[in-house]
Amino acid sequence: MSGHRTPPAGLGFWGRVLYAIERKLARIGKHLGKVYGIYHLRSNGVQVGEKVAVYGAVHVNNYGTMTIGDHSSLFGPLYFEVGPGAELHIGSRVAIGQMVNIAAGQSVILEDETLIGPMSQIRDADHAFDNTERVSVATYPGQSAPIVIKRGAWLGANVHVLKGVTIGAGAVIGAGSVVTKDIPDMAVAAGVPAKVIRFRKRPPERGESE
Ligand SMILES: CC(C)(COP(=O)(O)OP(=O)(O)OC[C@H]1O[C@@H](n2cnc3c(N)ncnc32)[C@H](O)[C@@H]1OP(=O)(O)O)[C@@H](O)C(=O)NCCC(=O)NCCS
Repeated sequence: MSGHRTPPAGLGFWGRVLYAIERKLARIGKHLGKVYGIYHLRSNGVQVGEKVAVYGAVHVNNYGTMTIGDHSSLFGPLYFEVGPGAELHIGSRVAIGQMVNIAAGQSVILEDETLIGPMSQIRDADHAFDNTERVSVATYPGQSAPIVIKRGAWLGANVHVLKGVTIGAGAVIGAGSVVTKDIPDMAVAAGVPAKVIRFRKRPPERGESE
C-alpha cells in the first residue's frame, strides 16, 4: 500500500491519519533497509562504491575480495559467495535482479553497465568428479575458471553462466539460456547451450532506411 499517494476512498479521518503514518514508516523502513544493506555488505568486507542502491536482502559469504562500483543497483534477495583467495568484482552502473546467485571460487567479473536478469546463476566452479577412486563428488571447488561478463552485456532472466565463459561487450543472452562457451561482442545468443542467433544491428543513419 505504501506506493499509493492518495489514501484509498472511504477512509475516515483516523483512517487517513493512520494511512499517512503507515506511508511515512514505509518510507523510513525503505531508507533504513538501503542503509542496512550497505552496512551488511561492508561488514562482510565488501568494498562498496558511491551511491550503490540495495533493495531487499543481500546474502554475502565473502572469504575473498568483493567490490561493487559506483551507482550499481542490487535488487534482493541476492546471494553472493566468494571463496578464499577468490574475487568478485561488480562494476559501476551494474543492475542485478532478484534471486541472482553468484559464486566465485576463482574470479567473476561483471564489467560496467552489465544487466543481470532475475534468477540468473553465475558460478565459476564445478565439484571435482574425475577421480573414480571416490564415488562421492564431495570436493569444492574442483575445477574452476574465471568468468567475465563484459561491458554493457545483458543477461535475460534465469540465465546460467558456467566456468571459464566470457560474454562479450554489449551481448544479449536470452532468458533461460545456459552459456557454456564464449559469446562474441554484440551478439544475441540464446538456448541450451546458448548459440548466437544474430548480432545487434547498428541504428540506421539519419535519412537511411532500415
Ligand atoms: C534473446 C531475446 C532478447 C531475443 O529477442 P528477439 O531478437 O526479438 O528474438 P526473436 O523472438 O526474433 O527470436 C529469434 C529466434 O531465437 C529464438 N529465441 C529467442 N529467445 C530465446 C530464448 N530465450 N531461448 C531460446 N531460444 C530463443 C526464437 O525462438 C527464434 O527462433 P527461430 O528463428 O527458430 O524462430 C529474447 O527472446 C529474450 O530472451 N529476452 C529476455 C527477456 C527477459 O528475460 N526479460 C527480463 C530481463 S531483466
